[in-house]
Amino acid sequence: MPATVVVGAQWGDEGKGKIVDLLAQHSDVVCRYQGGPNAGHTIVVGDETFKIRAAPSGVISGKVSVIGAGCVVDPEVLIDELDELDARGIDTSKVVVSGNAHLIMPWHIAIDQASERRLGKLQIGTTRRGIGPCYADKASRIGIRVQDVLDPKILRQKIEVALAEKNVWLERVYEVEGFDLDEVATRYEGYARTLRQIVGDTSLLVDEALTAGKDVLFEGAQATLLDLDHGTYPFVTSSNPIASGAATGIGIGPTRIDRVLGVAKAYVTRVGEGPFPSEIEGSNQERLRNLGGEFGTVTGRSRRCGWLDLVALRYAVRVNGLTSLALTKLDVLSDFDELPVCVAYRLRDGSQTPHFPAHQSDFHHATPVWETLAGWREAIDGAASRMELPEPARRYVEFVERELKVPVELVGVGAGRQHVLA
Ligand code: GDP
Ligand code: IMO
Ligand code: MG
Repeated sequence: MPATVVVGAQWGDEGKGKIVDLLAQHSDVVCRYQGGPNAGHTIVVGDETFKIRAAPSGVISGKVSVIGAGCVVDPEVLIDELDELDARGIDTSKVVVSGNAHLIMPWHIAIDQASERRLGKLQIGTTRRGIGPCYADKASRIGIRVQDVLDPKILRQKIEVALAEKNVWLERVYEVEGFDLDEVATRYEGYARTLRQIVGDTSLLVDEALTAGKDVLFEGAQATLLDLDHGTYPFVTSSNPIASGAATGIGIGPTRIDRVLGVAKAYVTRVGEGPFPSEIEGSNQERLRNLGGEFGTVTGRSRRCGWLDLVALRYAVRVNGLTSLALTKLDVLSDFDELPVCVAYRLRDGSQTPHFPAHQSDFHHATPVWETLAGWREAIDGAASRMELPEPARRYVEFVERELKVPVELVGVGAGRQHVLA
């Protein structure tokens, strides 16, 4: 089973980085297929903590680490990240970036920030890293790609064309300062020195690795419900985190993918705006946030916390074709007597459904139908196998398997690499 996609099954921050890091130990290539520095993946190895935004999580184990065509690259963030990892003794020499990946330019960040400010109460709550505006330019076919920085003449020309429009937009619509052609061109020519060394034909590289029978991991950033087409639009990111995005984002056929592992927390968190049916009311939300350390890796924002939502997870099973699940952070639930789980939604007309609503306004008004499971109130981070978990914790995991009809292959009981029960 050489090709495995690891995909977030909720609204992000499920612990994908940790699971990818673990699986990377037995893999040859790790690929990021979408997103950019909006991602924040935390990997704990021994007493070292790494926070990764741009590179695939496999970089920590010195694996071939591919940044695919479907990603957007902020060269400053990527280069700083690689420099920092190098300084910490991590071998980053096997990072390869697709020449087709789009570059986040300074005006993308400025527009992301200004448009969120302009939206006021209607804002999406983006990470303000320029993700949406960069993907918008890609779709409008006016983006600047990694391969464009390799030729200073082409780069300068493209920046000039872009600025002619972006500066008018920034100054007249958003009333903020525009950018200077020479300053931006010189800065990006500087980045080209590093990018030239790491650019490669990533579609071919992955195809050859798969053909040679190597183990390849495809790492999604963000998650199913943040997917541009299948998530809770408009409160989504601007790319396709779902599993099929791995094929388009890397440039391989969908028939090459063997397994799809969904990563879900044993509860749910969400950063940014948008409806969230199983969001906890009252003091237990803050209690769970503190117990789980639920503060954003990229922005430091408090993550909204909810009880496990099986309607949303059922949807993730469907749109990703999940073959198994990793259930992370089960240890965080050890402090509660009872654990509500959302098993269905009650809709506005009073009916109940096990399915994720197809229409935004139905989802907006959906309220959870709860089933309450017993808690266990004892630490579980020392368990060495699923059999060693207290019975209510085992039942919690089995309940998820039964409801979703998907095996839970891995259970997370702590942040470290060793804290995963197979
Ligand atoms: P990602 O974006 O999906 O990679 O997830 P983040 O790194 O943003 O957030 C997950 C957080 O939970 C990180 O701080 C991880 O170190 C931590 N974590 C991952 N798995 C577990 C687990 O099973 N138990 C606990 N207590 N923490 C975990
Ligand atoms: P990882 O990979 C959680 C959310 C933002 C916002 C929406 C759009 O660490 O799981 P964007 O900046 O992408 O245009 O913001 O998506 N968001 C994330 N939430 N984890 C992430 O990444 C996220 N990346 C984006 O909070 O609601
Ligand atoms: Mg994260």
